[in-house]
Amino acid sequence: MKILSIETSCDETACAVVEDGKKVLANTIASQIDIHAKTGGVVPEVAAREHVLKMIPVLDECLKESSCDWDDIDALAITKGPGLISSLIIGTETANVISYVKKKPLIPVQHITGHIYSNWLDTDEEIEFPVLILTVSGGHNELILMKGHHEFEVLGESRDDASGEAFDKVARILGLGYPGGPVISKIAEEGDGSSFSLPRAYLEKGSLDFSFSGLKTAVLTEVKEYAKARNIENAEDIDQKFKADLAASFQEAVVEILANKLYMAFEKYSEIKEVHLAGGVSANSRLREVIQEKFDGKITFRHPKSIKYCTDNAAMIASAAYFLHVNSPEKYKPCSNIIPTTSFEIF
Ligand code: KG4
Ligand code: ZN
Repeated sequence: MKILSIETSCDETACAVVEDGKKVLANTIASQIDIHAKTGGVVPEVAAREHVLKMIPVLDECLKESSCDWDDIDALAITKGPGLISSLIIGTETANVISYVKKKPLIPVQHITGHIYSNWLDTDEEIEFPVLILTVSGGHNELILMKGHHEFEVLGESRDDASGEAFDKVARILGLGYPGGPVISKIAEEGDGSSFSLPRAYLEKGSLDFSFSGLKTAVLTEVKEYAKARNIENAEDIDQKFKADLAASFQEAVVEILANKLYMAFEKYSEIKEVHLAGGVSANSRLREVIQEKFDGKITFRHPKSIKYCTDNAAMIASAAYFLHVNSPEKYKPCSNIIPTTSFEIF
């Protein structure tokens, strides 16, 4: 079954064609990073206008890349939320119109479940349930127990900032640009992760929730004290060594909390067969390394096969849609008029 998917929840206009939930025939993305770098973050109105310009060209390019025409496509998939509502509308309206005109069933997908299915892409191996998943992105951070296809139980989630959001905000504080994750992890390679003693919020005993806002504030306090002592007004004037050491210390703190909470959940739920990492922050090599070390020889640990499947993409949406369709094919019809939502509710 070939599914053509559309994802426009934030600042990437993305389309993909995926066969049977795993084989990626095309994965096309128009990124808006250069535009949002100028403002240090995503301005929703600007993102939505850019989606309007890019939606049809990306769709055309994706079909071309997949060597499919509309007759080869069995169904459509769309991210229905959560995300920026003005961005979601562009994708859902496009999908609704194509579903109507081409008479294709339309499968709505919750964005976080899309990230979860990024570990099914480009793999021939059978994934064994139950799977314990750590989703780490700019807008969300969860620990999820997946008992079967689309059977989820949320074990823990962020009470304030998501980990990716913390990377973005710390990069902004240090004047490093947007998005924060890749720049922080790059500069952290030159720094010493033990040079600053930053707080780790583990919350109440046994809690599997996350909190990163205190850590972000601690970074801000260090920068303010440094700047005050030296009469510095712009982040650009901060010494490179200070930035690298603080970035590395921040990254160590985030990675330690994420890896330890994941391990706590693993110990609590003894029946788990695999451990997965998904979402934009799963591109972080230090995070992968620490988790790999923790689980080595104990259980299968997977992260997306390619960095392009870590951050927002449409291939993961097609994969999640395929397994929804397998569960109940009768549910998905043409012209079902999908309404986008900012709600996180799905599981
Ligand atoms: O999953 P995603 O593309 O979008 C959301 O659904 O939110 O995640 C984007 C987030 C951004 O906050 C970005 O800074 C972070 O993923 N990110 C990283 C890395 N690459 C992207 N964080 C840490 N290390 C990276 N290498
Ligand atoms: Zn995402």
